[in-house]
Amino acid sequence: MDKFYLTTAIDYVNGAPHIGHAYEKILTDIIARHFSQRTEVFFLTGTDEHGIKIQKTSKEQGMTPKELCDMNAEKFKQAWKALDVDYTKFIRTTDDYHEKVVQKIFKKLVEKGDIYKHSYEGLYCSGCECFLNEKDLTEDGLCPDHLKKPELVKEENYFFKLTKYKDAIIKHIKENPDFIVPSFRANEVLNQLEDIQDISVSRAKTNVQWGIDVLDDPDQVIYVWIDALSNYITAIGYDTENPSDLYKKLWPADVHVIGKDILKFHSIYWPAFLLALDLPLPKHIFAHGWITIDESKMSKSLGNVISPTAVLENFEMEYPDAFRYYMATSAPCGKDGNYSDADFKEKVNAHLANSMGNLLNRTLSMLVKYFDGEIKPEFKEQSDLFKKALGTVKVVENHFNHFEIAEAAQEIIGLVDMTNKYVTDNAPWTLAKEEKWTECGIVLTTVLEIMCIVSSLIYPYCPNIAKEMAKQLSFNLDTKLDDLTCDNIKVGKLISKEEIKPVFLRIDSEFADKTAKSSKK
Ligand code: MSP
Repeated sequence: MDKFYLTTAIDYVNGAPHIGHAYEKILTDIIARHFSQRTEVFFLTGTDEHGIKIQKTSKEQGMTPKELCDMNAEKFKQAWKALDVDYTKFIRTTDDYHEKVVQKIFKKLVEKGDIYKHSYEGLYCSGCECFLNEKDLTEDGLCPDHLKKPELVKEENYFFKLTKYKDAIIKHIKENPDFIVPSFRANEVLNQLEDIQDISVSRAKTNVQWGIDVLDDPDQVIYVWIDALSNYITAIGYDTENPSDLYKKLWPADVHVIGKDILKFHSIYWPAFLLALDLPLPKHIFAHGWITIDESKMSKSLGNVISPTAVLENFEMEYPDAFRYYMATSAPCGKDGNYSDADFKEKVNAHLANSMGNLLNRTLSMLVKYFDGEIKPEFKEQSDLFKKALGTVKVVENHFNHFEIAEAAQEIIGLVDMTNKYVTDNAPWTLAKEEKWTECGIVLTTVLEIMCIVSSLIYPYCPNIAKEMAKQLSFNLDTKLDDLTCDNIKVGKLISKEEIKPVFLRIDSEFADKTAKSSKK
């Protein structure tokens, strides 16, 4: 693996970011940080800024569409900064270079004979930014995702020959069982492919003005999903005539991380556009589940929409690590997760403060108490736990290869629990009382070696906690996963009493339920 190129969905900027958007960006950042411990990573995110939805919202708010986009794109960037989402590039679909290449892409599809003009009448949902079939609506004729009545649209616009690529896409999905992750979603896509039709890929300017103009046809704007999906290649310098070196190095993407609601666009429309452009398909499409709040769907009408930073503010957290950890472990791969204040507090207190943080703190404190913080040469011994720890590294890597982020975290906490048990079983305090100094030193050093591995494995989830752990262990956190050993703790003085500090403080109970209350204000 000489590079890893991963992307998130680009968010609509008709509103501010919420915890659902944050969930995806955190998951992607964790994958990016993990793979940065194995290879060179390029992490793309951004905002989706055209279309009828933005046009309507800006009008309601008395702004130009561009003003609305500028205001909200900034909020997304700030949220990702607060959550330590460390992307390589942020694309906005109103960026000049993107708009120009999207026009060329559309032109190439026309030249290829894959786009034709057609008079059309259909039901358009501005929430989904797509036409819906009557059979997909609820009994009351509403869009099932947005619970809004779609608008009847009669237009002459351009159509893309999606049906031409149907068989090739079915073949690709069947021959590449890990193209769609988790695999249980592949069947859904294969079912949807059964009755696909050609799709409208432009809108008449009489109805939609906020979009990228079709070259040579000033009465039409390019459909927002062609515009949006193309970001994955325009951001890295794709051009129909002369693609950049970066594009050549990075494409095909290793994974597009998206929510389950937009899988159809990524596993049917996007592959069809790419095939039409004679470009390779992305290696994986990872569809994560949705986040609910206290087991309810997040919605403005329920008043339970939580901002991405509300949890940090309400629990007065200096770092986003605990929130990142909680979100990332809220659901198994591809399943829906839930946020609740009480659960958040309980989980991070148990895993990060009690199991992991205390283990390091207790061990270092004993090292100071019994040995003045010094590692003696005779403390360095092999242990069965080392084999287990290095085995965990491989298991974690394998989970990440399948985008099983929560499952990987469970392995890491499993290693911590096993190490806690090792401490209990070997009772270094008793060994000290009995003046079995070498044995006591071996137990403490063994634990500290394991904690170096733990700091490396937990880094993608909790980068600040990991850095603090590594600092107290004098461990180099830049060590690649493949180069990890259980020989990191140096002989000599490791730490003094003043240098020991808790890496994660328990969340005080008084904070419970604050987030939910404040978000309803
Ligand atoms: N603009 C399109 C994506 C274009 S990608 C070429 C879009 N935007 S969105 O703002 O509606 O959603 C952005 C991402 O956030 C999607 O992957 C979506 O699934 C995800 N989520 C939105 N609400 C969510 C939850 N409540 N929970 C988890 N993810 C959710 O779709």
